[in-house]
Amino acid sequence: MAEKPWSGRFSEKTDKLVEKFTSSIDVDKRLYEHDIDGSIAHCRMLARSSVISEAEASVLSNGLAMIKDEIKNKEFVFDDSLEDIHMHVENRLTAIAPKAAQKLHTARSRNDQVALDVRMYLREEVYKILSKLSLLKKAVTGMAREHMGVIMPGYTHLQRAQPVLFSHHMLAYYEMFKRDSERFIDCLKRIDVLVLGSAALAGTTYPIDRFHTAKLLDFDSVSENSMDSVSDRDFVMEFIAAASICMVHFSRFSEELVLWSSSEFDFIVLPDAFATGSSIMPQKKNPDVPEIVRGKTGRVFGNLIAVLTLMKALPLAYNRDMQEDKEPLFDTVDTLKFCIDIYIRMLPKISINKKNMRNAASKGFLDATDFADYLVAQGMAFREAHNCAGKAVAYAIGKDRELKELSLSELKIFSSLVKKDVFDFLVLERMIDRRKSYGSTGTENVLNALQKAEKEINSEDVVKKKK
Ligand code: ARG
Repeated sequence: MAEKPWSGRFSEKTDKLVEKFTSSIDVDKRLYEHDIDGSIAHCRMLARSSVISEAEASVLSNGLAMIKDEIKNKEFVFDDSLEDIHMHVENRLTAIAPKAAQKLHTARSRNDQVALDVRMYLREEVYKILSKLSLLKKAVTGMAREHMGVIMPGYTHLQRAQPVLFSHHMLAYYEMFKRDSERFIDCLKRIDVLVLGSAALAGTTYPIDRFHTAKLLDFDSVSENSMDSVSDRDFVMEFIAAASICMVHFSRFSEELVLWSSSEFDFIVLPDAFATGSSIMPQKKNPDVPEIVRGKTGRVFGNLIAVLTLMKALPLAYNRDMQEDKEPLFDTVDTLKFCIDIYIRMLPKISINKKNMRNAASKGFLDATDFADYLVAQGMAFREAHNCAGKAVAYAIGKDRELKELSLSELKIFSSLVKKDVFDFLVLERMIDRRKSYGSTGTENVLNALQKAEKEINSEDVVKKKK
C-alpha cells in the first residue's frame, strides 16, 4: 500500500472501508489525460517563474508523458488506497523520478487541480457535442429537404388543428437543436477559465504566473477569486441544465416518432434496424429506440438535481462532497452523446407515409380557420366569420361530412357571402401557401427557412479546441 502524502500528521492507518468509501479512482480515472497535461503545464510555468529548475521541469514532463502512455496502454495499476487520479499520477511519478516528483505539487492543491481537470474535460466534450449536434441538424434539415411538399396535420392539444408542411414540422426541431448548440457555446465561456494556481483556497506564496499556465493550456481567461475558483461548480450545473433542455427536445421528438409509428397515426415507418419485436406477440414492431431516448431524459434530469442538491448548502470553499459531481457529469455527457449519435443514424432511415399524412390533414375540419378567413376576405369581421364557420362545422358534423364536402347552397346557409370559389380556397396546398407571414408554414417561407438553416449549418465552424 502506498504511503499517503498527508501521512506526516496521522498516527493511524486509514481504515480499509474508509479507503474504499473515499476513493473516486474508478470514476475520475477518465480525467487522466487532462490531469497530466495540466501537470505538465504547471511544471513548465513553475520553471519559467524560477520556482523549480528547467532540468527538474524536463524530468517531470518526461515522467508525466510516460505515465500518460502507461495509462493509455493499460499498463498502469490502479489502487483504491491512492484515492483519485491526481494521487495515482503523483505516486507513479515518485517511482519514476523520486526527487523531482517531490516538487510537482508546489503552488497547487488537489482542490484547484480537480477543478482544472474537470474544466479541461468538459471543454473538450462540449466541442464534441457541438460537432455531433451539427450532424444532427444536418439530418433534421435533410429530412425537411427530402420531403418538401408533404402536407400533414399540425396539432394543438394533440387535436388536429391546421395543415402544415412536414418540412415545417422538422424545421421546428432544427430551431430547438440550434438553441441547444447556442446554449452549449455559451456554457463554454464559463467553462474555459483557468482555475489552477488558486491552490487550496487562498492562492499561493510562490511567484507563479497563472496567465502563462492559461496560455499553455489554451484557456480563454483566468479566474478572479481563489475561493470561488476551488468551490465553483456552476459550469457543471449549467452544462447539465443545457443538456437537460436538449434531452427535453429529444424526448419530445421521440414521443412524436412513437406516436407517428403507431397504427393509429401510421405516418412513418421506423427502420427495422432501429426497432425490436416482442417475445410473445409475433406481429409487433416496437419503437424501442425513441422510447429509450425518451426514457434516458429522466437520468439526465436526475443528474441535474443531484448536482444542484450537492452544491446547495456548501460553505466556501472546497468541500469533499464535491467529489460527487463527476458521476452525474460523466453520465450526462455519455448519455447525451449516445442519444445524438443514435438520432443521427436513425433519422435518415425513417420512411414517410405521405398519403396517410395528407389524408389526416384532409379530415377533421382543419380548413375551418380558412373558411373563416374566406368570409373575412369577402368583408366579414373575423369574430363573426369565426362564428359562421363554427356553425358550418357543427352542421357538417351532423351530416358526417367535411366542410368541403358540403354543397355551395348548404354553405350559403351560413353566409350569403359564400361563392363557388370557396372550394378552391379550401384546397390543402392553397391553405398552406396563403400562410405567407414570416416564420409560417407557407411553402415559400419554409423553403427560405430551410435554405437559411442549411447555410447556418454549413458555415458552422466547430473546431475541436485543444486538450
Ligand atoms: N477527488 C477529489 C475530488 O474529486 C479531489 C480533490 C480532493 N481534495 C481534498 N482536499 N481532499 O473532489
